[in-house]
Amino acid sequence: MNSALNPQTGFAHLTDLPCLKLQYGEASAVISLYGAQVLSYKPTAEREVLWLSPKARWHNDAAIRGGIPVCWPWFGPATTAFNTAQKELPNHGLVRNRLWQLVHQHTSANGASVVLKLELTELPHYAGTVVIQLSVTLNETLTVQLSCNSPIPQQAALHSYFNIADIDSVLIRPLPAEYQDKVAAKTVLDNQLSSRINCEVDRIYAHSAAQLRLECATGTLAIGQAGHDATVVWNPWQEKSRAMADMAAGSYQQFVCVETARLNCDRAALSLQQQLYPI
Ligand code: BG6
Repeated sequence: MNSALNPQTGFAHLTDLPCLKLQYGEASAVISLYGAQVLSYKPTAEREVLWLSPKARWHNDAAIRGGIPVCWPWFGPATTAFNTAQKELPNHGLVRNRLWQLVHQHTSANGASVVLKLELTELPHYAGTVVIQLSVTLNETLTVQLSCNSPIPQQAALHSYFNIADIDSVLIRPLPAEYQDKVAAKTVLDNQLSSRINCEVDRIYAHSAAQLRLECATGTLAIGQAGHDATVVWNPWQEKSRAMADMAAGSYQQFVCVETARLNCDRAALSLQQQLYPI
């Protein structure tokens, strides 16, 4: 199969965003260097797997709303393990609004791949230099892998926004029966072993499976996960999304986030992977 890799300025309405486009036969993926964020994955010319908010921004330090944001080195608000000086720190870590560097690229009959790197010297909880890398490989699947070899406390998530066309049609399975409900702030036991979404959903499923299926009106997607200890399912629903400047009215019906996460913040090296393919 033919593969290709080209720089591209702009994607969708983000017309000045520095990007890279990977191609493998009919499949393509677009990655923003800002945030090392995959913005588009099309396994075929007709099907877009990822959702990008029509109101997403990238200037003024904004995190791009959509695609696959990289959350690191903490997930959600920074807890005291990360926020040692008790400063105001951004949600979901420090790398969604940074320009990453392209350090490796490869195309062959087996696929197209890139490695992006970010070096950080100003972590609030660690004085040394830390390097994190994101590799993206496109072939019959799209594989995104985040790694950091430094033995520092670190959480991470590949915070994927999936284009589902219609929230009523979504089914994610298998999911563990028990989850932490961040909306109700309690642990819930749900024996249906699946997740239909008809209200604000912000759930942490610990010890989730290595393979999930996301079924929806646009087709079924396999989501492979590795190096994770949880899957987070999120949809802000109508009221909460109304308060978000980068979300249009009605957008909440068009996406669901299924996030491959490592939430345990012990000092083990990080290798977190999400692999997507239509089935
Ligand atoms: C999810 C969290 O992962 O991300 C939610 O579980 C959060 O609590 C959501 O609201 C969006 O976060 P942000 O920082 O991109 O607005």
